[in-house]
Amino acid sequence: MDKHNFVTIADLTREKILYMIEMAQEFEKHPNRELLKGKVVATLFFEPSTRTRLSFETAANRLGARVIGFADPKVTSGTKGETLKDTILMVSNYADVIVMRHYIEGAAQYASEVAPVPIVNAGDGAHQHPSQCMLDLYSIYKTQGTLENLNIYMVGDLKYGRTVHSLLMAMRHFNPTFHFVAPKELAMPKEYKLYCDEHGIKYQEHTAFNEKVIADADILYMTRVQKERFSDLMEYERVKNVYVLNNELLKNAKPNMKILHPLPRVNEIAYEVDDNPHAYYIQQAGNGLFAREAIFCDVLGITLDDVKNDKTI
Ligand code: CP
Repeated sequence: MDKHNFVTIADLTREKILYMIEMAQEFEKHPNRELLKGKVVATLFFEPSTRTRLSFETAANRLGARVIGFADPKVTSGTKGETLKDTILMVSNYADVIVMRHYIEGAAQYASEVAPVPIVNAGDGAHQHPSQCMLDLYSIYKTQGTLENLNIYMVGDLKYGRTVHSLLMAMRHFNPTFHFVAPKELAMPKEYKLYCDEHGIKYQEHTAFNEKVIADADILYMTRVQKERFSDLMEYERVKNVYVLNNELLKNAKPNMKILHPLPRVNEIAYEVDDNPHAYYIQQAGNGLFAREAIFCDVLGITLDDVKNDKTI
């Protein structure tokens, strides 16, 4: 059987996305199962993370696997000059699946080409974050009851925010209308707008962020300005607080509208919004567990039927 990786959301068909959502629903009903008993999962994080690493590790633990890995590359032999290729080959000797976050765009694709075990991309530079995308899709489906025909507003750092790039690509199957709200320095990159044009995805661009602009939103997807990706910190200082969501801005929101954010937040959502019924970002992060349990099963050849017929619950 071909090795099955989870490197880019662009690979997923409409049917596969809906299948993964159904699998995540099963795990939300019963997160604790022994489907990965005897397996070892490696988590290699070359960049900082709270949610992604811990929810992958929780998913592995809840599925009965054991976890090895590192959260800080400074403790590895990479500091002695070991290459990514050699690190991946070594870890493949020990683990059945590798979850990797790396600062270089394309690192996960490269790892998937050299590793004999499945690679799960936990974020590669400003490029893709497909497991975040799965939990975002699951969160949208849960809150809206559908993925079809939604008005999705993406706000903030659309240049470096890999989560919005992945979500844009995944939603191509579901006839969305996107609104890209960003200062010109952080606008959605040309290649993603071209992707929209090529796939018939409707979008509008805005620089203003006010209650009138977002009044018809179904999903308001806020993002952090990604300081770590700026080469010019003066530019970061100019744009870092450009949009701050508060309760006043939400007064005309549609009843079904939910606010998502991949987190961490810095200043872009005021703490007063946490108690607003439109806020969903904390629950969204919780959905990451179920989405990542589904991803582990998928790359290890465990089907939805296997999950539904599981006798280990
Ligand atoms: N959403 C996300 O990727 O969060 P972490 O950086 O904490 O993993």
